[in-house]
Amino acid sequence: MEQLNKRMEVRNLSKTFFGKKGYFTAIEDVSLDVYDGEFLVILGPGRCGKTVLLNIMSGLEEQTEGQIIYNGQEWKGLNPEIGMVFQKLALMPFKTVIENVELALKFRGMEKEKRREIAKHYIELVGLKGFEEYYPKQLSGGMQQRVGIARAYAADPKLLIMDEPFGKLDAQTRYQMQEDLLKIWEKEKRTIIFVTNNIEEACYLGDRIILLSDCPTKVKKVYPIDISRPRDMVSKEFLDLRTVISDNTDLSI
Ligand SMILES: Nc1ncnc2c1ncn2[C@@H]1O[C@H](COP(=O)(O)OP(=O)(O)OP(=O)(O)O)[C@@H](O)[C@H]1O
Ligand SMILES: [Mg+2]
Repeated sequence: MEQLNKRMEVRNLSKTFFGKKGYFTAIEDVSLDVYDGEFLVILGPGRCGKTVLLNIMSGLEEQTEGQIIYNGQEWKGLNPEIGMVFQKLALMPFKTVIENVELALKFRGMEKEKRREIAKHYIELVGLKGFEEYYPKQLSGGMQQRVGIARAYAADPKLLIMDEPFGKLDAQTRYQMQEDLLKIWEKEKRTIIFVTNNIEEACYLGDRIILLSDCPTKVKKVYPIDISRPRDMVSKEFLDLRTVISDNTDLSI
């Protein structure tokens, strides 16, 4: 990999919850690096602690132990340079596509004309030109995900974190979204952390895959992927990689 600037370092991160049933550790001593410009995939089984990890990385949640280093400095709290595409997509139902996409810019006090222009650019980029005035409920699941991606990009994040964004889509739409996301990433050159529990998706998208274990989650292994893009999912090198990762995984899929 060429880009060796570290955008983020996660150092010895642990998270323990205290609830009715006592202590529960979701994350145990996780360390990982995120390089500038890369497409990093975090692959882990259901309920292993992926969302908790992402929430800590973005500052939405506090760790029990360990550090988040952002651009070489310890970071605590919400990081405005990080954008999130949430697992439970939270579009505003009574706002149109364009209003949803420009919302963060509106909160920042950006004037209407400018924010409309930016929102339109990203709506077009995700393939939703013509749907600006639609409401979320008038869109398919895949289209709603596209709005979520446009909204995250429009806020101009340096690092974009996506939490299983395609998990609920049918296989056909999912493949299409994977391809489109790669095109956007290649065009926009943002750093992406993409979380999934799907090995094929991980192998198709990632520059590197960080494989997590079952809960309490730890880093099992890091796989750099040097298969050239666009990747052929039925090529021997792709299937070999997929098999190697499957053999080492706790995934319940
Ligand atoms: N606020 C909380 N209090 C107590 N336990 C929590 C809390 N948040 C998450 N957990 C627990 O931590 C574990 C990991 O949850 P998390 O949502 O990170 O899993 P995940 O890997 O994102 O799962 P999925 O693949 O279903 O999205 C789960 O057992 C969950 O119940
Ligand atoms: Mg999750």
